[in-house]
Amino acid sequence: MLKRIAILLLGLGLIVTMTAAVMAADMGNERKGKYLFRKNCRACHQDGQSAPALNPDSKTQAQWERIFEKKKYEDFECAAEWVKLSDSDKADILAYVHGHAFDSPSPAKCK
Ligand code: HEC
Repeated sequence: MLKRIAILLLGLGLIVTMTAAVMAADMGNERKGKYLFRKNCRACHQDGQSAPALNPDSKTQAQWERIFEKKKYEDFECAAEWVKLSDSDKADILAYVHGHAFDSPSPAKCK
């Protein structure tokens, strides 16, 4: 009986760990996202460039989610730029802008 409970707990622990790992991967890497945002988005989305300045705090978390997860970017003028990004790059950028969105605990401009 005890052995069975031990195996059950071990199994549960494994599931929890794996779920956490999958979710972390899904959220992307914020530090990498900042780098990618500066490199791939700010080239145009900055004062004096071709597109309106864009910062993490330009939008709310829900707006960023809609853009990245519901693929609203496919309607943007810059859709061709997004195609060049891998899914993991997009997840990283989302982690960055979402973490510093207008209604996040730490809204920020991209410096
Ligand atoms: C080659 C230049 C260029 C690049 C690179 C680029 N964009 Fe754009 N983007 C534009 C232009 C031009 C528009 C249209 C602006 C308008 O409608 O006023 C636009 C529109 C947008 C919009 C919709 C307008 C808004 O402000 O809500 C968003 C959001 C956006 N881009 C985000 C991004 C993100 C995030 C990246 C990086 C993954 C990116 N763009 C890369 C040029 C670019």
